[in-house]
Amino acid sequence: MIHATLHQLKVFEATARHGSFTRAAEELYLTQPTVSIQVKQLTKAVGLPLFEQIGKRLFLTQAGQKLLSTCQDIFQGLEQFEMSIADIKGMKQGQLKLAVITTAKYFVPRLLGPFCKRYPGIDISLKVTNHQRLQESMAANEDDLYIISQTPTQPDLNIHPFLENPLIVLAPTGHPLARKKNIPIEALNNEPFIMREPGSGTRMAVQKLFEEKDINVKVSLELGSNEAIKQAIAGGLGISVLSQHTIISEGTTGEFAILDVEGFPIERHWYVANLAGKQLSVVAETFLQFLLEESPAMARRLLPGLGKANSNTLEESEPQKSKQKALKT
Ligand code: PGA
Repeated sequence: MIHATLHQLKVFEATARHGSFTRAAEELYLTQPTVSIQVKQLTKAVGLPLFEQIGKRLFLTQAGQKLLSTCQDIFQGLEQFEMSIADIKGMKQGQLKLAVITTAKYFVPRLLGPFCKRYPGIDISLKVTNHQRLQESMAANEDDLYIISQTPTQPDLNIHPFLENPLIVLAPTGHPLARKKNIPIEALNNEPFIMREPGSGTRMAVQKLFEEKDINVKVSLELGSNEAIKQAIAGGLGISVLSQHTIISEGTTGEFAILDVEGFPIERHWYVANLAGKQLSVVAETFLQFLLEESPAMARRLLPGLGKANSNTLEESEPQKSKQKALKT
């Protein structure tokens, strides 16, 4: 039996994750020499080197890789244990790791407010990123729950649709097309278009529609964030297609107009998903229930104009239905 302390394992895990003693020390609020002493002692206990240093970077040896995956299992088990104990005591406590696509950053924090009030013992980490990076997080099993707009074939997920996420054509208020009705989609060919970055789910959905309809917009600008695109639209640099959720605060009362273009809105939905092979923590299960129960009413309040389909009709029409698991009640 190896004589290692939990503290040493934590220090080792952080060092392995960052590939650096210095960054691990920063994360753990320790000094760099403390971190390297802990790793040295652990190496001695294991009896084999755990890292190789090449230049300034640290690489895990084979023994180091095995120890890292053992550490991850231990920490996950302990987290789960802690939460089960809190549950037995009748308290909802622990950590919730959420990763959401960029369009959900307007909505999810508003839902977290009442959730945190109801369960003050839950700490939340919220990661906002695009479709592609979210898939990478799933593959690395980094989070408890994911909010996505497109369901990947891999990894295997439990998926629950919960709200519409329509994509609309957004222009500045004074735009000549803003007062027109039933604008043919070909009209977009004449407009400078601002596009999201490669890897964005919004971009994929827009490109798919344009390909189907044989539309060749002039991409005048490519930007990696919905907010930057909104500023560019307001600044008169062009029009774009964004989720209606991105104008949750201002609506169309200020700088933006939604153009009534044929083929729009592109009907999409948000799904909340978790890895099928991973047991949900009590805290994650609690948030999942909260999200499914509370989000329709909150969406009606925040975005009264959002499409009318509800999650029941979605569930019936979704091809992923077979993958969905009934929620525990
Ligand atoms: P994106 O995702 O940030 O990858 O465009 C948003 C969405 O798919 O709704």
